[in-house]
Amino acid sequence: MEKDRVTIFDTTLRDGEQSPGASMTPAEKLRIARALDELGVDVIEAGFPISSPDDLLAVRKVARELRRPVVAALARANSKDLEKAAESLEEAERPRIHTFIATSPIHLERKLRISEDECVERTRAAVEQARRYVDDVEFSAEDATRTPLPFLARVVAAAIEAGATTINLPDTVGYARPEDIASMIRELREMLPALDSVIVSVHCHDDLGLATANSLAGVDAGARQIECAINGLGERAGNAALEEVVMALHVRTDSSEPRTGIRTERIYPTSRLLSGIIGIHPQPNKAIVGRNAFAHEAGIHQDGMLKERSTYEIMDPRSVGVPRSRLVLGKHSGRHALQSRFRELGHEVKDEDLERAYRLFKLLADQKKEILDEDLLSILHHGTMDDVPDHYRFEELEVSCGGRWSTARATIRVDGGEPRSATARSDGPIAAAFAAVDQLVGKEVALENLEIRSATPGRDAVGEVTLQVRVAGRGFSGRGASTDVVHAAVRAYLQALNKSEQAVALEARSLAANSDLWGV
Ligand code: KIV
Ligand code: ZN
Repeated sequence: MEKDRVTIFDTTLRDGEQSPGASMTPAEKLRIARALDELGVDVIEAGFPISSPDDLLAVRKVARELRRPVVAALARANSKDLEKAAESLEEAERPRIHTFIATSPIHLERKLRISEDECVERTRAAVEQARRYVDDVEFSAEDATRTPLPFLARVVAAAIEAGATTINLPDTVGYARPEDIASMIRELREMLPALDSVIVSVHCHDDLGLATANSLAGVDAGARQIECAINGLGERAGNAALEEVVMALHVRTDSSEPRTGIRTERIYPTSRLLSGIIGIHPQPNKAIVGRNAFAHEAGIHQDGMLKERSTYEIMDPRSVGVPRSRLVLGKHSGRHALQSRFRELGHEVKDEDLERAYRLFKLLADQKKEILDEDLLSILHHGTMDDVPDHYRFEELEVSCGGRWSTARATIRVDGGEPRSATARSDGPIAAAFAAVDQLVGKEVALENLEIRSATPGRDAVGEVTLQVRVAGRGFSGRGASTDVVHAAVRAYLQALNKSEQAVALEARSLAANSDLWGV
């Protein structure tokens, strides 16, 4: 076991996606996976293939394209899940199957309703089956931190005997404190010397705000893999934030902490890419990637910073990729300036995307005097690289509001056909616009959440709308940006509806493929 190197296992695309409102299309996942590869993560957990055809496709796409990192697929400890995981990884250069079963008394008795013996047997069978497909098998004892140690040792021993190469000990419900994680690993090692033959991993949730501290305590006790997610995305309060655990290991060079293979200057661009795609932004005071993480407000602090930065700064913002300046572009800036600013912001934009971005940039420059970095990122995430097919295409919107009722006339094209318009009335302009769109698409759409934020400062700011809808029982998110928030909302709404069309088409294709397979 390599002692001074910690494997960074990124689960943004799997546990991260389980965060409410963070669902991503396969193409969006691929885009994030490419950024994770550039960031230097060792393992990308690309999804949970049995959970949906979308997830299966996402893992396939990531596995097919990325050759350097290990690509992992999640599977419960049962035969069908494992088959799907193996299928999703067929084209991977470095495949890993990550199989798990709950081990705590509450999960065994109330959720799985199985005995301890059965749990051990399922573990053994699952790991053996996974090893028949791939050499790299990770086993997780879900809710490990609430599992009595003697039983945890039994399950882990079975997993190692069956061929697991990584043993993950998740704090599934974020209940543990750092000393609990450290003693769990140390005591387990004493009880089970075979643990030294595998990589021990930690997977900490942030329900008590301790995920980073717990992960580091795990490393102190000998864990050599940390499971984490960009911006701390994940179930409930999230997973340990990749940027926090990595920078904690990199900044404290005075201690004998092991290091990671992360290219830290890619942290900020990756964080921005993710929040741009899912529309969930880290809070301003979020460590490392929040808007205020390197802002110094108090006079004494500013004075100290001017005299010597290290008085109040423990890391150089550039070391995590925060751009040096907020360069302002304007109406007269050319393609070249735009391209090089995107590059400085950490995005290599392909020629065809640059053309589209430049057209949007010019349109925006007619409305705004100064185009800031945030505007550019907004153009990039909302106006270009849009990989959801335009089944419903936005054409025009006219709104009248301010009185008791608002009225909206929306015009869209369906499947490239002639433009069609509808008019609706409601108690607000966005509701009226959505009602008009509903008439045109003829679907029952439940709006579950809608957020509006200003992407840039000033009166002529770009407004970003993020929303979640439910169509036929399935959740989809949409994002749109414009200097007019009602337009942004309709674009976001149509994007979510386009995703729902895409999911239906994918499902139909996967059903057809399976029926060929089964000969029905
Ligand atoms: O939190 C958890 O226990 C998990 C497992 C599937 C590893 O996400
Ligand atoms: Zn988890």
